[in-house]
Amino acid sequence: MSESMLGLKRSHRCTEVRTENVGEIITVMGWVQKSRNKGGIIFVDLRDRSGILQIIFEESDCGGESFAKAEKLRSEFVIAVTGKVEKRQGGVNENLVTGDIEVRAESLRILSESDTPPFPIEENSKTKEELRLKYRFLDLRRPDIQKNLMFRSKIAILTRQFLADEGFLEIETPTLIKSTPEGARDYLVPSRVHPGTFYALPQSPQLFKQLLMCSGYDRYFQIARCYRDEDLRADRQPEFTQIDMELSFVDVEDVLDVNERLIHKLFKELLGIEIPLPLPRMTWIEAMNRFGSDKPDLRFGMELKDVSQVVKDCEFAVFKGALENGGSVRGINAEGKGNMPRKKIDALVEFAKGFGAKGLAYLAVLEDGTYKSSFAKFMTEEQLAALVKAMDGKPGDLLLFAADKNKVVWDVLGNLRLELARQADLLKKDDFKFLWVTEFPLLEYSEEQGRFVAMHHPFTMPMEEDWHLIDSDPGAVRAKAYDIVLNGTELGGGSVRIHQSDIQSKMFEVLGFTPEKAQEQFGFLLEAFKYGVPPHAGLAYGFDRVAMLMVGADNIRDVIAFPKVKDASCLMTEAPTPVDPKQLEELRIEVRGE
Ligand code: AMO
Ligand code: AMP
Repeated sequence: MSESMLGLKRSHRCTEVRTENVGEIITVMGWVQKSRNKGGIIFVDLRDRSGILQIIFEESDCGGESFAKAEKLRSEFVIAVTGKVEKRQGGVNENLVTGDIEVRAESLRILSESDTPPFPIEENSKTKEELRLKYRFLDLRRPDIQKNLMFRSKIAILTRQFLADEGFLEIETPTLIKSTPEGARDYLVPSRVHPGTFYALPQSPQLFKQLLMCSGYDRYFQIARCYRDEDLRADRQPEFTQIDMELSFVDVEDVLDVNERLIHKLFKELLGIEIPLPLPRMTWIEAMNRFGSDKPDLRFGMELKDVSQVVKDCEFAVFKGALENGGSVRGINAEGKGNMPRKKIDALVEFAKGFGAKGLAYLAVLEDGTYKSSFAKFMTEEQLAALVKAMDGKPGDLLLFAADKNKVVWDVLGNLRLELARQADLLKKDDFKFLWVTEFPLLEYSEEQGRFVAMHHPFTMPMEEDWHLIDSDPGAVRAKAYDIVLNGTELGGGSVRIHQSDIQSKMFEVLGFTPEKAQEQFGFLLEAFKYGVPPHAGLAYGFDRVAMLMVGADNIRDVIAFPKVKDASCLMTEAPTPVDPKQLEELRIEVRGE
């Protein structure tokens, strides 16, 4: 039968016991990692969240009763051991921080027994993730996940300290809010008291933090849970956490400054890495032109080159057609890949098609100076030479070109660039390349909706110098919006907000909101803005992404205690599930059959 604490106190976590403690009597508690019975002597590896400590049981030390219990120990039993710390007899174990000591048990309590777990609790588990997520409570015992979550906790605590020192107040905002569909799809929560009406779970605290600025709280932050019903990816979950902040009486520079210092502190104190400040900055258009992405990975080069001017007179229909349609022809130089076999090139073409390319034109510069190419026959020697020169092509290089509308060309080459870097193993996880991307377009045209939509959100301040273009060329207006990017991941984003009602009304007009519709959706904010609103700006990080990149994980699931899988379900609790018809009745909700 399991025993209980009965006044027994833990004196140390497993790896808090060190050589300095030799000779002391200590009490440790934890899980049995493994137990080896060598006949008359039993070795137990005891595990807690700090690590592993070796315990030795011999009947002469711990007495017959404890020894009999020790003989029964199996993996994942929870035990308490009191014993004497000794220098390890059987040679030092270099793999353990406690490898030079052991504890000679004097008494043992079995606090809880365990069934045989469905998979071994070990670092770098080879067990399939589905099984691990079904038994997440066991998976969470594994040292690598424990390290991740302990690290994540440190980020949260240090962030709180830093922001508090900078004069920020931590204020909670509601999570049952009004649905304002703009951006991702909302998760809805039905109201029982008001049948037929719904709350939404917040996609972010955006409107509330702006209201807090109106109310004079001048520097706010929150580690806030956010919900977005969108397709999952490696760096996206339906519920995730933001480190969210808003500041009054500031402009872009102020937000960037405080955040650069936050990043510097986190990396310095938690990883011992000095991130050089100020962080580099790049406008959105420069990022797109050079890297084909608004979140460029700066760990490697392979920049895009616009060769539209160079190929404009050639006879290659693909290039000509794209240019005639107002598009461009751009390329990247995969240096030293000129001997890539045809099959691999074809795979790259297929990869490009996955991003909307109609094809991918290539030109390999061979060592003897001749070319192997899908389009050389449509060009003169001079045109080819000019193209190779424009691409800085040398013998042995592979030049890859996409021709289409800018948006497609950027996306295709931006992704191709990343794929080539992955293939060449250029993406080192311990190399941290930060970047601010600034001056995003204010609006982007949605083909689907047949109107302009806000690129960030409808409260983002346009750049003063572009505002006169709002009627004549809305797509050309840039915003006071910025993203912080790390190694090709968008860590966070924010903007200066509109605080003038005339600009806000105009924005709503351009976004196709009638004054009535704007009033219906954002009335409370517009009303608040009538009563004295300070200029304000803010930013939110994806906290899970910050943690993922700092610990070197590949997926945000690895830094979230209880994550969801691709279809937004939880394999452990099986949520979402049907509910009791009575619950639905109370909500006056009827579920239609498939
Ligand atoms: P934005 O929508 O850019 O801005 O979100 C801020 C950051 O949150 C993270 N993020 C996510 N992380 C995990 N899973 C998701 N599904 C997910 N969606 C977003 C990203 C992103 O950069 N209110 C504004 C911020 C502001 O203007 O102050 C906002 O939410 O890292
Ligand atoms: P095609 O004329 O379709 O046989 O294409 C000739 C070559 O151009 C092939 O290598 C295609 O992959 C490539 N190609 C086709 N469309 C494009 C495009 N939009 N951009 C770049 N290359 C393309």
